Formats: sequence, C-alpha cells, structure tokens
Amino acid sequence: MNKPNRLAWLNGGDAACSNPPDPPPGAPWRLVLLGAPGVGKGTQAELLCARLGACHLSTGDILRAADDPSRCDRSPALQAALDLMRQGALVSDEIILNLVGERGRCLRCCGGFVLDGFPRTVAQAEALSALLEREGVALDSVFNYELPIDEVVSRLSGRRVCPECKAVYHLTRHPPRRTGICDRCGKRLRRREDDRPEAIRTRMRAYEESTKPLLDWYGSRGMLVTVPAHGTPNEIYARTWICGRAVRAGLTPPAGAAEHGAAVAGEAPAPPEPSP
Ligand code: AP5
Ligand code: MG
Repeated sequence: MNKPNRLAWLNGGDAACSNPPDPPPGAPWRLVLLGAPGVGKGTQAELLCARLGACHLSTGDILRAADDPSRCDRSPALQAALDLMRQGALVSDEIILNLVGERGRCLRCCGGFVLDGFPRTVAQAEALSALLEREGVALDSVFNYELPIDEVVSRLSGRRVCPECKAVYHLTRHPPRRTGICDRCGKRLRRREDDRPEAIRTRMRAYEESTKPLLDWYGSRGMLVTVPAHGTPNEIYARTWICGRAVRAGLTPPAGAAEHGAAVAGEAPAPPEPSP
C-alpha cells in the first residue's frame, strides 16, 4: 500500500502531498490515539497507518518539522511554542488549534487518519469535534494506551530518532543494526530534546493535569477503548486492530482482545511494515 509522505500535514499552507494515499476499499478509518508520553502512540500509529493506508497526523511532528534550523519563517508565537516543547511543557491551545485548523483538509483526506498527540486538552477535543463536523467526517474510535509509569519512562529514556527520515528506535528494545546509525537512511541517530530527564518529568505532569481529563470526556461519549500497552509493538497493534474492527462492526470490543493481545495476535492481519 502507498505510504503517504504527509507533506500537507507537516508543512501546512499550500503544501500538497506528493504521494497522496490510495482510497481504501471500504470506508477510511479515523482514529485518535491517547496515552502518556512514550507509551508508544507514534509506534502504533505507524503500524496502523501502514495497514490502513491512512495518514499519521501527529501535532508533535508538525512542531518538530517547524523546529528545523533551516526554516526562517517562524512567527514569534511559534518560536515561543517550540521553546515550550523543548522544556516538555504543552504548547498553548491557541497555537495548536491554528496549526490543526489550517490543515483541515487532512482530516477529510480519502485515506483516513490516525491522530497522535492531538487532542491533548478538553478544549482541543471540543475544537476537534467542531472541526470534524465542519469537514463532514466522524471518528471511529479513540484508543487509550495504558502502561505502568516506570515502563513508560524506560521507553522514553532509550528512544533514539533519525533527524532525516524520522524513524524511531530504542537502545535495547528496537536497536538499529549499526549502533547509532539509522537503518533506513544511514544518518546518525539523536536523542529527542524533550527526552532529557527534566523534560520527561514536565511532560508527565502535563499529561496528568491536562490530557488525562480527556479519558472521561471521550468515555462519557462512549468512544473510548482502553488498550493495554505491554508487550511487543506487534502484540499491541494486534489488540488495537481487533478492538477497532469490533467497534466498526458496532460491537463492544472483546475483553480478551484488550487483555491478551498476544493470544489473539494471529487474528489480526500483519502490518506491511512490522518494525516500529
Ligand atoms: P508528541 O510528539 O506528541 O510526544 P508525546 O505525546 O510526548 O509522545 P512521544 O512521541 O514522546 O511518545 P509516543 O507515545 O509516540 O511513543 P513512541 O512510539 O515514540 O509531543 C511532543 C511535544 O509537542 C509535547 O510535549 C508538547 O510540548 C507539544 N505538543 C504536541 N502536540 C500538542 C498538543 N496537541 N497540545 C499541546 N502541545 C502539544 O515510543 C517511545 C519509545 O518506546 C521508542 O523508543 C519506541 O521504539 C519504544 N517502544 C514503542 N513501543 C514499544 C513496545 N511495545 N515495547 C518496547 N519499546 C517500545
Ligand atoms: Mg510520538
């Protein structure tokens, strides 16, 4: 399946994707992924998008793309937002809603989407709901990934990313073939600036205070599906997939799928690109 390059999402403005998604055979999937920083949302978004042909829409990725030193078109407000991101604090709702609002066409894209990192506050969830209504599309599910905090911190502390192709690795759980070098493009891997210990602490606080209330917000609307995030990326993907299929069929997700993803992994089609 064609992997969209997300130029419209990452660059905003008039940017167009040079390889837009192929329309999927059925109705496109439209998902939101929630969970603490480092729980594996980006990893799951990549696996799901590879399977669904959907676009991985991450607000963190928009901000990191805008942080490119070669770009000189940053407004003072965006510069302040990037400083906040480096410290691990949330960027203001106003900035985020401007960025997402000007990319509304990505929400009605024929391939569907997996939103990762947005919404992150109740105000953003309300704005997303209005935006989707305006674009004439509806969410299928909101998946919330759950994992004990010490495991989350270990995933974040060992993360390394490729500055060129954005591939994500982990020092021990998903190491590159050559130490410190990206398997895909050969560039030297880096630690994300907000993966320093003090920034991780700030991000966890922001998650508890601002993002956790979203669980009640979506839960009270009957949209929240909780997915345990232990195990390998493919096991978690299998749990997500089976829950998503159940919701699309109008069923309650089977408890066994959420609890024992490894046992049901064989029922889910493998993603075309199995590595995170
Ligand atoms: P964002 O980029 O969204 O970061 P985040 O939510 O903090 O989440 P991460 O990307 O750190 O983690 P992840 O859950 O995607 O995990 P990953 O798959 O990489 O946002 C960054 C910042 O931008 C925010 O702090 C804020 O400042 C700002 N921002 C963005 N959106 C905003 C908004 N809407 N409002 C306000 N501010 C906003 O995995 C982590 C590691 O674990 C990797 O090394 C991976 O290889 C490994 N791993 C993944 N799965 C597994 C597994 N199953 N087993 C073992 N290791 C695994
Ligand atoms: Mg991420």
